[in-house]
Amino acid sequence: MIHVKNLYKTFNPNTQTAFHALKNISFEVKENELVILSGVSGSGKSTLLAIIASLLKPTSGAVIVHDKQVAKLPDLHASRFRNEDIGFIFQAFNLFDTLSVSENITIPLIPLGLSQKEINTKVTDAMNLANISHKAKTTAKDLSGGEKQRCAIARALVNRPKIILCDEPTANLDKENALKFIDVIKTLKAKGFTILIATHDSIFENLPEINQVIHMNNGELV
Ligand SMILES: Nc1ncnc2c1ncn2[C@@H]1O[C@H](COP(=O)(O)OP(=O)(O)O)[C@@H](O)[C@H]1O
Ligand SMILES: [Mg+2]
Repeated sequence: MIHVKNLYKTFNPNTQTAFHALKNISFEVKENELVILSGVSGSGKSTLLAIIASLLKPTSGAVIVHDKQVAKLPDLHASRFRNEDIGFIFQAFNLFDTLSVSENITIPLIPLGLSQKEINTKVTDAMNLANISHKAKTTAKDLSGGEKQRCAIARALVNRPKIILCDEPTANLDKENALKFIDVIKTLKAKGFTILIATHDSIFENLPEINQVIHMNNGELV
């Protein structure tokens, strides 16, 4: 499902401040795997996720997602790839504060030109999967941290991407909501999603659903 091959990322190349954030990273994620990308802050996890999501171009190497050479997609195709193939859950949730939960979740569907009925079905399904249906009409700014995250999860799922990428998903949650997040992840895995979670939260240690743990340190796999 995801092949990362000899990936390098250097920020500010050919300058005094050149920084090698990723050095020769290679790994594979199979369909329906739950993979943890672990490592202390600064080890390169977010950079790696951003390259897989085609938000950032690598310096060299390849990322192949469903046979697509992600790093080589022109911008227009890259945004379509992000919208259709990848669900991204950010640490800061990145919701529109003044929109309701259901409106936030509708946003990724806008470019698709679906009927209102199709939109309603998809939004309802995503809210049910992420366990946030009871807050459909609530304005995002009035949600608790855990609810904001479940809204962000529903938005990431609404297009039914095969791959879900999560960047430090429990960093802004208390223990109770972090455990609820893990329940949602278990549901998504059971539904067939492929999930990659960048985290340094020990709450993910020893979860039986985890297929692989990829350890990063200083931009390298260890
Ligand atoms: N745009 C950038 N320009 C220069 N350095 C960057 C940039 N983005 C990230 N870095 C550096 O790359 C390293 C890895 O960052 P990051 O991928 O965010 O790590 P992590 O997510 O594991 O905390 C850090 O040292 C960070 O300062
Ligand atoms: Mg990070």
